[in-house]
Amino acid sequence: MDFYKVIENRKTVRDFEQAAISKETFERIISAALKAPTNDHMRDWHYIIIQDKRVIAKLLDIIPKGISDEDMDALIKDWNLSDSLQQECYRNAVPKQYRMLFDASAIIIPLLKQKVDLLHPDNISHLNGFASIWCSIENIFLAATAEGYACNLRVPLGNEAEYARGVLDFPNDYFMPCFIGIGKPQENAPIIKQKNIDIKERIHWDKF
Ligand SMILES: Cc1cc2nc3c(=O)[nH]c(=O)nc-3n(C[C@H](O)[C@H](O)[C@H](O)COP(=O)(O)O)c2cc1C
Repeated sequence: MDFYKVIENRKTVRDFEQAAISKETFERIISAALKAPTNDHMRDWHYIIIQDKRVIAKLLDIIPKGISDEDMDALIKDWNLSDSLQQECYRNAVPKQYRMLFDASAIIIPLLKQKVDLLHPDNISHLNGFASIWCSIENIFLAATAEGYACNLRVPLGNEAEYARGVLDFPNDYFMPCFIGIGKPQENAPIIKQKNIDIKERIHWDKF
């Protein structure tokens, strides 16, 4: 697929049909992940790919299975989500946090070596490792798109990441930035329209 077509086609998908993804496909996707730019040239990243539904059920047990209409309305208000497309996005996404991962063909857990206290960095460069793993995550999304699949992601809330460590047994010095669900989009999977942005308003030539 043409590179810009891959960029256009990549959209967050939270509704999957049942489909198996081959080991070779995962290997190509993770190989792309491992080509992302990295702050220290080391790419000390690992990826746990979980397809076993029993492990997935255990891993996701801690994630809320839905949200009431009243709580959804309160969330929109509390988080000051005034933009209509943004509201549409949250109204679609929040109730699906469990199902978008459970119904995926697999969950990928990226891991980065945690060298400094991410939550209390001394300076911006202490966040370089965290920034690098997000470059790797974007490569996963783009490679999955090029392979005809789609992804979603959830940033762990509360103690979801520590709970995942217990279920998946990853070492204490590795940090999990997110859950990634990967799968084949349902034919009518809702895709929330991206906001139209006029590039002329966002590019600044020589001076802001
Ligand atoms: C840092 C980051 C955190 C995100 N957290 C979540 C999340 O916890 N749950 C979720 O469903 N989507 C999450 N998303 C996905 C966004 O909702 C999605 O990328 C955004 O609405 C734009 O839609 P698009 O990816 O289809 O262009 C996150 C995306 C990023 C980059």
